[in-house]
Amino acid sequence: MLMVTAIAPVNIAVIKYWGKKDAQKNIPINDSISGTLSTDVMYAKTTVYTSSTLEKNRFWLNGEEQVFEGTRIHSCVCEVRSKSDETLPHLTWNLAICSENNFPTAAGLASSAAGYACLVYALGALFKLKDELSSIARVGSGSACRSMYGGWVLWQKGTSSMSNDSVARPIASHEHWPEMRVLILVVNDNRKKHPSTIAMQNSVTSSSLIHYRAKDVVPHRIKEMHLAILTKDFRKFAEITMKDSNQFHAICLDTYPPCFYLNTVSQAIIDLVHAYNDYKGEHVVAYTFDAGPNACLYMLEPVLEEFTSIINYVFPQPADIHDNDYFRGLTLPRKPVDEMIVYDMDLQPYNAGKLKYIIYTKLGEGPKLLSDPKEHLLSEDGLPL
Ligand code: DP6
Repeated sequence: MLMVTAIAPVNIAVIKYWGKKDAQKNIPINDSISGTLSTDVMYAKTTVYTSSTLEKNRFWLNGEEQVFEGTRIHSCVCEVRSKSDETLPHLTWNLAICSENNFPTAAGLASSAAGYACLVYALGALFKLKDELSSIARVGSGSACRSMYGGWVLWQKGTSSMSNDSVARPIASHEHWPEMRVLILVVNDNRKKHPSTIAMQNSVTSSSLIHYRAKDVVPHRIKEMHLAILTKDFRKFAEITMKDSNQFHAICLDTYPPCFYLNTVSQAIIDLVHAYNDYKGEHVVAYTFDAGPNACLYMLEPVLEEFTSIINYVFPQPADIHDNDYFRGLTLPRKPVDEMIVYDMDLQPYNAGKLKYIIYTKLGEGPKLLSDPKEHLLSEDGLPL
């Protein structure tokens, strides 16, 4: 019996991946760039177990058994096996896989990215495969290839017909820009209305904007964003991040039938970020939204306390939600909002409860193995604990 447990991070794109050239292999129509978030706050955890006596392959996600055969999980297992050393005795044994996220699944919070990255990383350890893990994770879920690395990551769409070069690579470590902070404003953590895999395909077939974006907009933005990250130019970083999020959601609207991921609370957050940036006279906060209404805000440490005081004033915490449930992740500095700011920005509070909770985090490292046997999610018999 062999067993390996790993954790892997979430990543949040600042140049979005949206649209596939090859839906089977998840080859994107454009490059993308993301920040990998710290596993101290959000992570997927996976245990892979194998034994010569295991009768069939089994897979559990967040405590519930799922179908294994014919799924993307299965495809990732096949890919890892096909690239591993054929002489490994356990290469053909059945597998038990148990995975869980410590944050809501499929709520537009990049859970599939963390989940597949974790699975592939753990399988790589089980089958002693180190190379090509990013392209295998991509087969599970496109954005997962970026979660194979920490810090700032570029996923190049690739040029080869074999798709071997559609892989992610780190462009700067999480320590490169140590003041970078991330707030996730959770508006709704229910399952997505439009799963991104299907919505993306609809965009490719029905939107003309998406093709213009892939050809004429993204190549230029990738260069600018890469430079903004390397030179730690937050103004430029923020402007491109927000424009790119807006263009992605414009494509969602240009998709026929359209898919709406942003709601009125998301729009209120967008307005507030622009109002704050105007008040400061420069871009100090950047929003970005994935396939859901939840906002991911990038900012530098010096504005965190002030901007948090504004968020908490405009979107009050409901009286019946305990601080520990509402403020999650790292300890968020909190102080009452400055009255002059309320006056100058003409801030008006909404009714309490527009935000479900707030996650405060930073950038962090890529996947890692957990050596402590207490971390395993499966027993010695390959069943969930
Ligand atoms: C909006 O990676 O979830 O988060 O490849 O079909 O699994 P599949 O899609 P997925 O798409 C994520 C899209 C996005 C933008 C991004 O992360 O770049």
